[in-house]
Amino acid sequence: MKKVPTHVAIIMDGNGRWAKEKGEKRSYGHKYGAKTLETLALHAKKIGIKYLSVYAFSTDNFKRSVEEVSFIMDLLVYYCKNRLKRLGEEGVRVVFSGRREGLRSDVLDAMEDITKKTSKNSSCTLNVCLNYGGQEEIIDSFIKLHNDINNDDIKLEEIDRETLYKYMYQNLPPIDLLIRTGKEHRLSNFMLYQMFYAELYFVDTYFPDFKCKDLDEAIKYYNNKERRFGNAK
Ligand code: IPE
Ligand code: IPE
Ligand code: MG
Repeated sequence: MKKVPTHVAIIMDGNGRWAKEKGEKRSYGHKYGAKTLETLALHAKKIGIKYLSVYAFSTDNFKRSVEEVSFIMDLLVYYCKNRLKRLGEEGVRVVFSGRREGLRSDVLDAMEDITKKTSKNSSCTLNVCLNYGGQEEIIDSFIKLHNDINNDDIKLEEIDRETLYKYMYQNLPPIDLLIRTGKEHRLSNFMLYQMFYAELYFVDTYFPDFKCKDLDEAIKYYNNKERRFGNAK
């Protein structure tokens, strides 16, 4: 592989349709989606991706049925307690982005536990976006910034592109490559600030079927792009 992007983000979409096409309930798709994510995160670390951000549950996904929402939350607790341990052992640091308000206490405990257990790892960071919204992140960063200005912790002249990153949920570098599975070509309120020069890669494959070789394919696409950042050649 020529050049591995530093920060890859994935909108893991299509779990429900994948299950429906198999005559199964939507939850079946979420279960397989979670397995896919585990495999992909290990692969990402192996090929040298430093940051992997994944959209696991949006603030707007709370509009879904209570049954579906609680299934996804139970799955997350199970993964934090059991499966993500493996990622930790492999040197992956797990962090979360999103609003804490509205999440169940067992979910918050599980998130805190895995974050603490993997905090010393440095080979790859898995940023799980849960109860996450891109506009909400910008709103929350404005509130923090406003407080810091009032407390004289930062001056207006110091605010620039770089400083605003520090006000996001996690201080991660900009996204180099965004992948969205599952046929739709939209951002659905994902990491709007960090996406500003991301290469966009849309693939019809539903997320549970997205394999390591598909990630390699997306990186190949990225490698064929000339990134100009507004410059002229
Ligand atoms: C993505 O798959 C996972 C979540 C949003 C939690 P969907 O559940 O959106 O699956 P589709 O898009 O309905 O097929
Ligand atoms: C985006 O997918 C959110 C996640 C993948 C977690 P959605 O399925 O919620 O997005 P829309 O509704 O199709 O835009
Ligand atoms: Mg969807």
